[in-house]
Amino acid sequence: MQLNPEEKETLQKIDRRLVPAHVAIIMDGNGRWARAKGLPRSAGHRQGVETVREIVRFCSYLGIKALTLFAFSTENWHRPAEEVNFLMSLPEQYLQTELPELVKNNVMVKLLGDPQRLPEQVTRAIDEGLAATAKNSGMTLSFALNYGARMEILRAVEALIRDLPENKDEVAVSEELFAAHLYTAGLPDPDLLIRTGGEYRISNFLLWQLAYSELWFTPVYWPDFSKQHLLEAITEFQQRERRYGRASGK
Ligand code: FPP
Repeated sequence: MQLNPEEKETLQKIDRRLVPAHVAIIMDGNGRWARAKGLPRSAGHRQGVETVREIVRFCSYLGIKALTLFAFSTENWHRPAEEVNFLMSLPEQYLQTELPELVKNNVMVKLLGDPQRLPEQVTRAIDEGLAATAKNSGMTLSFALNYGARMEILRAVEALIRDLPENKDEVAVSEELFAAHLYTAGLPDPDLLIRTGGEYRISNFLLWQLAYSELWFTPVYWPDFSKQHLLEAITEFQQRERRYGRASGK
């Protein structure tokens, strides 16, 4: 892994045994990055894909077990058709070039979201990615596409009701049983949520799963987000005391 002197120095300061197991990222600021440079929004998204390449490689190198990227929300359909179409071309573009390396690095690809409304171009690329990496046991790389957390929770409730045994008046639904019906079934909850682009919102992302995650916000636009920024987020994560509602030091 090519690291510059600053990244090498920061990497030495983190505890490699205590990297967060699951990092989730809201990749925001592509449009503003482009506008600041007098470029079309698509240029920001294109550069955003380059950041995805670099961060995926680096997370896998760091031994992070799961990386979840918010790539397209259920609300993003309201953007102009031209931008939606461009965003829909990105998963295929990314996987076409990266799939061999993902396979080599033992990364498993996963889709979070409703595949129904996604164009065939996207589902085909994702299905190929899922099939080619299904047996991999390294990092799980999840793309949240046509994803909305409230919708995910409602779908989980429907699936739970469908699975209920008949003629039962009282049902006990444990957290584990409920979580097993979410798109993220089988993944640990995120330890660290990163949001780029300067907004302080969750934006309908992983509402159930983020209950105890550490949140880290940066004004840096996603196309400018670098390995160094990720290391800074991990450094701060390692300094936080995660209490899960308990008293300090207990
Ligand atoms: C938010 O920035 C970003 C998105 C809606 C799309 C994010 C997608 C990528 C970074 C590329 C995904 C890559 C793959 C491989 C699927 P924005 O457009 O809302 O930026 P703005 O808030 O500055 O306008």
